[in-house]
Amino acid sequence: MDKIVIHGGRPLTGEVAISGAKNSALPLLFATLLASGIHRLRNVPRLRDIDTVEKLLTGFGARIVADRNGLEIDAGAIESLEAPYELVRTMRASVLALGPLLARFGRARVSLPGGCAIGARPINLHLKGLEILGAEITLDHGYVEAKATQLRGAPIYLDMPSVGATENLMMTATLAQGETILENAACEPEIVDLANALRDMGAVIEGDGSDKIHIQGVDALAPLDYQVMPDRIEAGTFMIAAAITGGNILLRGCTLEHQDALVSKLHQAGVDVELVAEGVRVRGPQQLQPVNIKTLPHPGFPTDMQAQFMALMSLAGGTSTITETVFENRFMHVCELQRMGANISIDGRCATVRGVRELLGAPVMATDLRASASLILAGLAADNTTEISRVYHLDRGYERIEEKLQGLGADIRRVAAQ
Ligand code: UD1
Repeated sequence: MDKIVIHGGRPLTGEVAISGAKNSALPLLFATLLASGIHRLRNVPRLRDIDTVEKLLTGFGARIVADRNGLEIDAGAIESLEAPYELVRTMRASVLALGPLLARFGRARVSLPGGCAIGARPINLHLKGLEILGAEITLDHGYVEAKATQLRGAPIYLDMPSVGATENLMMTATLAQGETILENAACEPEIVDLANALRDMGAVIEGDGSDKIHIQGVDALAPLDYQVMPDRIEAGTFMIAAAITGGNILLRGCTLEHQDALVSKLHQAGVDVELVAEGVRVRGPQQLQPVNIKTLPHPGFPTDMQAQFMALMSLAGGTSTITETVFENRFMHVCELQRMGANISIDGRCATVRGVRELLGAPVMATDLRASASLILAGLAADNTTEISRVYHLDRGYERIEEKLQGLGADIRRVAAQ
């Protein structure tokens, strides 16, 4: 298995281009199942999760051509309505195939995603919502089977503002008969990106970006031609890379839209984040200040930035608390940060981080996608060598991260498996 080796201690400087958002590109790719014809998606990041969706779509019978500008997807000749376990188990978002296939073909069979390192992550809200829209759901040998002769719009209250459930149900409702109202819906920017794309396809959707989304079903949708929004989590990770190394970098291809919670916490930590004509300029301070954060659904502090922010706070001049409310088990990076000299204790969903003067390089292991990013950040700040193993987690969600960091002056390289 590949490793990432970092010799830390260099302030990062220069410019970095932010890629398209993984969490937007994934649902957009599944949305292509809603309509026949040739779909075009631009600014799609090259990531392992995107490869997985491509394999799923190809398995259904779609034809995909990749070029410099993005992907062209022909979802006209769908022959299979089944998402197999081998693919679904590597990426939970595969469950987003369920709604679009059901809505267009009246049937779908998708493997249950199974366990995940950051918590149980059930799909009960997806299934309950589909049932309310008229689907008959059965579980068979680890697969969810959904069938419907006619989906009918209905009010659906989500017990939790789940991003995936909101996306799955919004896509399904576009082809149901009548109006669906999603209440307590997720408000994440990626939901708005998906709604914008669906509207371009001819869907009738209002209220996305708020907790109440109205969808008026239509008979058919047209193919998609759309540019994926910039990745706010990748951008946030590079902001912290500048902050933790005391560097000065320019992020190109992104703005500060949707970053209010993160930027406000970075300002409190003493980091200078500024919108400039060319993008976003970030300068790290001489001494980081401690900051308390609590993860929440958007517009609260994103859970996908929690691990990276913890790495930053481990070098602050004082004590910070970090409370994780979205996932029940998202502190897997703590033990690894401790191996690098961080002083962190955990009590349930709250971590107390007592800032230390320096982090020390060590061999560490990535446990999930954002945990891997936090270890890279810690390694960039540590004063000797850090070796991160199990980097396949990183490849799920960061496009060419080591190349981008090298471009900013980091001493980082990937060592291929022997
Ligand atoms: C999406 C993001 C992920 C991010 C998360 C929260 C994608 C591909 N992934 O994941 O990066 O960390 O939002 O911002 O966009 N839940 C249930 N039942 C359900 C669905 C969810 O109880 O049916 C719970 C989950 O266990 C979790 C919480 O709801 O505790 C939030 O999960 P959800 O918003 O659904 O996350 P994902 O869509 O999986």
